[in-house]
Amino acid sequence: AGNRTFTMIKPDAVGANNTGAITKMIEEAGFRIVAMKKTQLTKERAGQFYAIHKERPFYKDLCDYMSSGPIVPMILEKANAVEDFRKLIGATDPKKAEPGTIRNLFAKSIEANAIHGSDSDVNADIEGSFFFAGQEKY
Ligand code: CMP
Repeated sequence: AGNRTFTMIKPDAVGANNTGAITKMIEEAGFRIVAMKKTQLTKERAGQFYAIHKERPFYKDLCDYMSSGPIVPMILEKANAVEDFRKLIGATDPKKAEPGTIRNLFAKSIEANAIHGSDSDVNADIEGSFFFAGQEKY
């Protein structure tokens, strides 16, 4: 039981064969995997996913990067999911991520930062629905 968040393992971490290690950390932290797959975004779909950052200077690079290789999106469930998951992954910039967090252990840079985590319950629902149909979320 609990509420849900959305995550995706990014191309740097999938490419470095860290999908299993990261998924293990997520499960060991008490999250249940509700939905999961391996897929790749086009530049256009990456642009839609990150539309909220359209005006930011890093937007184009981010869309190029996020479409550069496979990703592993997931919907996760746990009490206090959004907040607890953001603690587990650590700060956006891996140089500022606490020791033992997923980004501290696996991220390469602020852009290639291994993993995404939704920042609110509303965005978790929107982002999960971007990748998964209703009958895939159980
Ligand atoms: P994420 O949590 O997926 O949300 C937006 C992403 O933009 C972020 O992780 C980073 O991978 C990427 N990004 C690249 N440069 C920056 C930056 N200067 N500040 C914040 N996010 C950045």
